Amino acid sequence: MKGIVLAGGLGTRLYPLTKITNKHLLPIYKKPMIYYPIEMLVEAGIREIMVVTGGRNAGDFLRLIGNGRDFGLSRIHYTYQEGEGGIAEALGLAEEFAEGQKVVVVLGDNLLEKGIARGVANFRRQKKGARLFLKEVDHPWEYGIAEVSGQRIKRIIEKPKRPPTNLAVIGVYMYPGDVFKIVKTLKPSKRGELEITDVNNAYIRRGGLEYEVVDGWWMDAGENAEALLQANITVARTAGVKI
Ligand code: DAU
Repeated sequence: MKGIVLAGGLGTRLYPLTKITNKHLLPIYKKPMIYYPIEMLVEAGIREIMVVTGGRNAGDFLRLIGNGRDFGLSRIHYTYQEGEGGIAEALGLAEEFAEGQKVVVVLGDNLLEKGIARGVANFRRQKKGARLFLKEVDHPWEYGIAEVSGQRIKRIIEKPKRPPTNLAVIGVYMYPGDVFKIVKTLKPSKRGELEITDVNNAYIRRGGLEYEVVDGWWMDAGENAEALLQANITVARTAGVKI
């Protein structure tokens, strides 16, 4: 199983913080944001990791992460996304790296209190299809939202105006090796991106999408300035800092 961290895009929602650096290099408490998804993959037992970056500051990722030694890895892989063609486009760039194996894809701005080790272990045992994590949220119109019926996801709607539930699909996606075939069939959405929600809906149509609900807090730290601040406070408090 391989790990892919998606850290492309320009992060314009955080301007001017992202005018001279990449969103994923901004601090969250004591570490740059990108450290958290990489650490989460390593904790889940994944040793082969690729970082997909982009924008004007891609070289800074190399200077920061180097060969992955800070994370206990002997090497780390990089690739570069030209433009901002969407999460699924960024994933597609990792096809050769994946070598047909299962992949765990983490968005570079997603943080979880309890990590993903349990979910990844469940996915290792899963015989076919993909696996997602869901979490109840207060502002469902800001996320991909799942309509569920028991243990089955019926459909996922990206940033719905009238959300059918408040169950957000978080930015950790577990796919079998055939995901790259699905990415190749996608057409750009109205906002001009290849949408990860379209990939997930393709697994629903094939009857191959399982999920589990996240235990502990989950944050999309890159959403806006308030989310970034909240992530800093929450991570520091979780580490025992009194603020
Ligand atoms: O955080 C969870 C949400 O992430 C999901 O609920 C949504 O379904 C999903 O579409 C996504 O929504 P966002 O609006 O938060 O996505 P955003 O454009 O902020 O991108 C999230 C990360 O994905 C970003 O930190 C880097 C990576 N990315 C994004 C784009 C658009 C890329 O690597 N390349 C890209 O072109």
